[in-house]
Amino acid sequence: MFRLLPLVLLVACASEGLPPTPPPVDGAAIFELGQMLFFERELSGNRNVACATCHVPFLSTTEPLALSIGQGGEGTGPTRARGEGSILPRHTSDLFHRGAARSLLWDGRVEMLDDGTIRAPVPLPPGITTALQAQALLPLLDRAEMRGHAGDVAVDGRANELAAIADERPEAVWDAIVARLLALEGYQFRFQIAFPDQEITIVHVAQALDFFERSLWDPQRSRFDREGPDSFSEAEREGHDLFFGDAGCFRCHDAPLFTDELFHNLAVPQIGPGKRDGLDEGRALVTGDPADRFRFRTPSLRNVHLTAPYMHDGAFATLGGAIRHHLDPATSLREYDPEQLPSSLRAMRRDDVNGELLETLDDPRPFRALNDAEVDALVAFLHTLADEPELIKEPDHAVPVEVPSGLPVDHWPGGPHPSR
Ligand code: HEC
Ligand code: HEC
Repeated sequence: MFRLLPLVLLVACASEGLPPTPPPVDGAAIFELGQMLFFERELSGNRNVACATCHVPFLSTTEPLALSIGQGGEGTGPTRARGEGSILPRHTSDLFHRGAARSLLWDGRVEMLDDGTIRAPVPLPPGITTALQAQALLPLLDRAEMRGHAGDVAVDGRANELAAIADERPEAVWDAIVARLLALEGYQFRFQIAFPDQEITIVHVAQALDFFERSLWDPQRSRFDREGPDSFSEAEREGHDLFFGDAGCFRCHDAPLFTDELFHNLAVPQIGPGKRDGLDEGRALVTGDPADRFRFRTPSLRNVHLTAPYMHDGAFATLGGAIRHHLDPATSLREYDPEQLPSSLRAMRRDDVNGELLETLDDPRPFRALNDAEVDALVAFLHTLADEPELIKEPDHAVPVEVPSGLPVDHWPGGPHPSR
């Protein structure tokens, strides 16, 4: 009934540069539980949004919207519509190769410190051991993303008891979510099999989601990993040599993860509702340091040609556009074409802060000027970072036929599961 990723995949993929994926313990049971939870709308206050609503497996684990849509929005993927006040401040990240990440989210507000402790915006329950586990607990608390607002009524007419809990009590929200899940028989036995003889808490929910995400989206290998530059076409080869040479991309996007996991200000146009006073100051929101204003975490470039639009706020619609911005950020910012944004966002551009954006610029310019053919070559090279196509474009095995709550399973383009 439930399609499982053959676990042999996890074991068979010998690591070539990427950190190894830990072997599963009772992998199948934890994977299946994580899969249910990832698609489970019961995790959201109003029972209307799952992780998969925004991280759509058939859309390369992200969504084609510049800025994501939270409570008040409807639908999944490109058919998702904006309701009043539902536009979130940031673009939805993809989830490829995040198991080894030491920091997560565009501002790195989830971060593993050198001593192995994890820093997050809220106190974490004991037992959280990875950045991915810690991250999974945050959308559950976020009112705009999943929890909903006080007084909300869930889609089935029941009161939203998660939204009624005070923001200062994250552990109470998590407990209430576990209570919801354990009220359903389908979860009682799945938790029991995955975590025998343990008292189930939100930590187990986080562990299962982490396991599902890293099992499915970490171990794949791209042509770059499997065959290397010897297999490349002329353009791919030229792009590769530029990337690791004159174009200087490797300074921030070095292999194997194609991110330095650090924060840089590229003076990307400010678009959307912002996080504070109508602006998104990125890393400075975490550190409080004005030098970190508008710095964002370097995104990984694995599978990047599948995850348009680009940057923390989806400002650039194409891969070429995102790369060209690096070549001369000041000019790109000044000449930015808002036509590449959905019409609803065009008026939400803050070009009045362009001067401030350039004050703390971390210059990403190549070591020498690049021509159009060289930008095309970089794009060609980035295509070699795509993982196995069947796992990226038609990840049928990622999507469960149904979830224990019986609520709809998000499946773009909103139709039924293809196996039905
Ligand atoms: C309403 C849409 C939405 C929902 C629901 C949602 N996410 Fe996200 N997710 C986002 C957005 C937007 C970001 C980027 C936010 C930021 O950086 O501040 C993100 C970021 C992430 C990241 C960080 C990736 C990175 O590279 O930093 C992970 C992991 C993730 N989400 C997993 C989940 C899981 C697991 C769930 C369910 C518990 C979930 N998300 C629910 C929209 C959503
Ligand atoms: C100084 C560090 C730095 C250098 C050098 C750099 N980048 Fe980036 N890159 C970033 C950061 C940071 C972002 C995200 C900026 C934001 O969202 O505000 C980014 C974003 C991107 C994106 C968008 C990815 C996505 O998922 O949104 C692409 C594509 C990209 N870079 C490619 C390149 C290429 C190709 C080069 C070489 C020509 C390069 N970068 C050089 C730091 C750098």
